[in-house]
Amino acid sequence: MIFAAILAGGIGSRMGGTDTPKQFLNLGNKPVIVHTIEKFVINRDIDKIIVLTPKNFINHTIHLIDEHIPNCDNVVVIEGGQTRNDTIMNSISYIDENFGIDEDSIIVTHDSVRPFVTHRIIEDNIKAARKYGACDTVVPATDTIVESINGETIESIPVRDYYYQGQTPQSFNIKKLFNLITSLTEEESNILTDACKIFTLKDEDVHLVDGEVTNIKITYPYDLKLANTILEDIHD
Ligand code: CTP
Repeated sequence: MIFAAILAGGIGSRMGGTDTPKQFLNLGNKPVIVHTIEKFVINRDIDKIIVLTPKNFINHTIHLIDEHIPNCDNVVVIEGGQTRNDTIMNSISYIDENFGIDEDSIIVTHDSVRPFVTHRIIEDNIKAARKYGACDTVVPATDTIVESINGETIESIPVRDYYYQGQTPQSFNIKKLFNLITSLTEEESNILTDACKIFTLKDEDVHLVDGEVTNIKITYPYDLKLANTILEDIHD
């Protein structure tokens, strides 16, 4: 089976100034999270879409889906976790309890605050996760990367051609991901905030999928302004 996990369990502290997490703020005429869920609903290969939100936003999210995306019968809303990895783990537990985890099933995990993910990116993630067991969506780094350990002087300037910026989706063979996450020590889980990093730490290959520069993550208020501009551009 193919599952999608829309990660919306965060509170958006860097967005500031609002009690409403950024995924519920409006982009154009509907909330960011609705744009994101829509991208997954139109993919007919995905069997189940699991949306994970803070507990007090579960009902709100169900209402939003009823209002904006009626007749989608393969979406479920459940509680996210304390950290992003905990949220991913909650999606895996849900799958385990309701469907079981077989050898072949894959999960496409995606930030709820990346509403411009494309159909092509999702399809490429599904193909790569099936073929390689794990993949990450990336774009080549455009700025020069500068490494500084102390924050005051430059340690090194690596060759830019070898560097990419990580986006989402990140997609995995569920069994592999589950086994790796449950094998982490407490110390490792505190450091490994990124699911792909868990694979690389355990010497497992993670395949690269081409992202898009427009597949931005809404983190700061400026990003929401930029997102509105991208949306207008798409509609032009
Ligand atoms: N996320 C999640 N569960 C968490 C934390 C984050 O599902 N416990 C999700 C967010 O909702 C978001 C995505 O992971 O869609 C990317 O994380 P980030 O941009 O860091 O979101 P927040 O944690 O909400 O933001 P901040 O770090 O500013 O508080």
